[in-house]
Amino acid sequence: MRICFRATMTFTKTATQIKKSALNELAKTRDINTLAFWRKEYLGKVGKFTKLTRQIAQLPAKERASAGKAVNELKQALAKALQEREKQFHELPPSPVSRSQLSTFFDLTAPGADFQLGHLHPITQMRQYAEDIFVRMGFEVFEAREVDDDYHNFESLNMPPQHPARDLWDTFWTEDELVLITHTSSMQHRILLGQKPPIRAIIVGRCFRHEATDASHEHTLNQIEGLYVDKGIKLPDLIGTFKKFLDEFSQRDIKMKIQPSHFPFVEPGIEFLLDCAICFGTGEVEGERCSTCGGSGWLELAGAGMVHPSVLAEAGLDPQKYSGFAWGFGLDRLVMVKYGIENIRHFYSGDLRFIRQF
Ligand code: PHE
Repeated sequence: MRICFRATMTFTKTATQIKKSALNELAKTRDINTLAFWRKEYLGKVGKFTKLTRQIAQLPAKERASAGKAVNELKQALAKALQEREKQFHELPPSPVSRSQLSTFFDLTAPGADFQLGHLHPITQMRQYAEDIFVRMGFEVFEAREVDDDYHNFESLNMPPQHPARDLWDTFWTEDELVLITHTSSMQHRILLGQKPPIRAIIVGRCFRHEATDASHEHTLNQIEGLYVDKGIKLPDLIGTFKKFLDEFSQRDIKMKIQPSHFPFVEPGIEFLLDCAICFGTGEVEGERCSTCGGSGWLELAGAGMVHPSVLAEAGLDPQKYSGFAWGFGLDRLVMVKYGIENIRHFYSGDLRFIRQF
């Protein structure tokens, strides 16, 4: 009993001490910031009041009631005093001193404002990656013009005005009869002209077509053209070079299909197709027709062929002496195959959730 009496005495004494120092310190607070510190010290989760309350549990059972009472009184006293002090600060005309103290309050430990670093667009990343591979294979990289004249986009490529093959491309014309290039082949003539073979060129550029867009067609596409002219170049050189690039680019032995095709500036003309990375060549996704490859299981990647003798002659190269190959492939399609992207329109959607994955 005596011990209990002593324990409660100590407890009540501590409560009184806390009250005294709390009110003392409260009177010293200067503004709402210092008040916040006070509140934390006395009424916070690990504040003096909470610590005292916890001690109740260690007291003998009989004494707990009176200790609880003391604690309640203390709490009420502190809460009331705090409320009054708060009121004073709010009622206080904002003196220059308290204002400046407010605005100069600077929490050194607060984390800094976060900012995000951007990165290159997946197409740009892959363009640079492809260029590196070609440079290692001995090609020189050229950039295509985005707007060019009729001669370079069509005529020098064996397509005189009114040639029906021009219908292959749904072309955008400017008012002064320039074209938004429909393909990077528009640079072939410039590169061949006045050069002495061997000529090994890669042409990269953005091309434009008046397309009805769908999962694998866009109005703007990135092409990478290859052009190789020398003595004794044959079709197997084209196929071997292109396959070597594809394997290197995709880091696997890629499945490729070749079929005949027609472009006026090559003879013979072929097409390279890849197995669709979305339906794995089956043409179906979950029982539905694969919208990426249109159900064929193959994705058309490139037009190619042996450079037409007229194109060589137009650039002053003797077709009896020289031969060469050319291809033009859609970089966007290749990136789709590499990453299994099901819709080409993601690339220009501006959706950061898509872009940030790369
Ligand atoms: N320029 C053609 C196209 O864009 C592709 C191609 C390039 C075909 C070179 C043959 C040779 O469709």
